[in-house]
Amino acid sequence: MLFVDDDEALLAAMTRLLRLDGVRVLTAASAERALELLETQGDGVGAVISDYSMPGMNGADLLRAVRLRWPDATRVLATGNADLLAAARAVNEGQVARLITKPWEPDEFRRLVGESLDSHRMLLENRRLRELADQQAARLEHWNQRLEQLVAERTAELESANASLQRGLLDTVRILLNFLERRVPERASRSREIARLSGRLAERAGLPAEVVRRVQVAGLVHDIGLLGLPDPILRQDPENFTMAARLQFEQHPVLGQSMLSSVEQLVEIGKWIRHHHERWDGHGYPDRLAGVAIPAESRIIALADGYLSAVGREGGSASRWRSAQRAAGAYDPDLLELLGMEIERPEQTVGEMPTVNVPVDQLKPGMRLAGPIFSANGTPMLNRGELLSEELIGRLQSLAAGGVLESPIVRVAGQIVAGSAAQN
Ligand SMILES: [Fe+2]
Repeated sequence: MLFVDDDEALLAAMTRLLRLDGVRVLTAASAERALELLETQGDGVGAVISDYSMPGMNGADLLRAVRLRWPDATRVLATGNADLLAAARAVNEGQVARLITKPWEPDEFRRLVGESLDSHRMLLENRRLRELADQQAARLEHWNQRLEQLVAERTAELESANASLQRGLLDTVRILLNFLERRVPERASRSREIARLSGRLAERAGLPAEVVRRVQVAGLVHDIGLLGLPDPILRQDPENFTMAARLQFEQHPVLGQSMLSSVEQLVEIGKWIRHHHERWDGHGYPDRLAGVAIPAESRIIALADGYLSAVGREGGSASRWRSAQRAAGAYDPDLLELLGMEIERPEQTVGEMPTVNVPVDQLKPGMRLAGPIFSANGTPMLNRGELLSEELIGRLQSLAAGGVLESPIVRVAGQIVAGSAAQN
């Protein structure tokens, strides 16, 4: 700090006092001398405390000059009662951040210096954070553009190659998942589990089969916005986030939506993804939606995500976590109920017939799928409830022969099938 006063005895006394606190003190006996010192050492000065009444330039004028040239330094004007009016004017005109009246108690002065230096440090820290956030936003924007471009290019290729919209959609999802797999492998595999559980919950919630399939797709790509975050944030445990890192992380649902918005068939799924961190009680992000204002599909994904994380931490079926959830308020209470049913009777839906496992090569036309069929990389291919035709069975068999299916055994509804079928 720089302390300016024409009373040299006071300068010496205060300097001794502040050195005890570890403060490096520059002193000047006049405003002119102060300006000379600032000229050479101004960048290192966090606070300037100046007496008001001095021969030559007065303290208010000095601090005005300091504000122009070294605006980061905290400016404090020291004044006797006689000059209070002039000093108050200096405060009003913004030249001075604080006033201290003479005479002062030593402790009062030390406190003032400490606070002035703290506010200078805070100013620098805020600026540093702002610059960091700007840089990261620029990087993010760059990533985003690259990704949108890649997705758009690949989608265009695929869509011209595949007449079927459905197939194009699944391929796009596959590409997105591959990106995620490469950068955040653990999130990609968790996303597959989330997709399955979300599909089951959506079924139990009575959503139409087509919506169930789209919920599964949304589950797969719900965290795709993580691709837009810089590596240091992806590698950090969210528990240890700084405020700035947390704010940035909480942008991932919005980034995810914006990535998907370039693919027409994924626009609706993008909306669901945007809201996968909203909470039932309205304390989530990014839009702080509450209750049924949150799309049901987003609520389902949020619950599947929360539950599977809890299983990861707690093991079993996370019963401690589940019993705490009703009071916690994060999730839709009706969905929590459905989750309980799903955990207790995972293979059965309300009113469902018994099911059997059948190898793909023993499927018969007329059988109905009792569970979804996934590809080896977790992409949903056929939904529960689908009636198997001869043609569909032929396709499944060739996919199974090519190793494309996750499992060569599928679950169908109905009676025990003769042969190697096993009942559950
Ligand atoms: Fe997320």
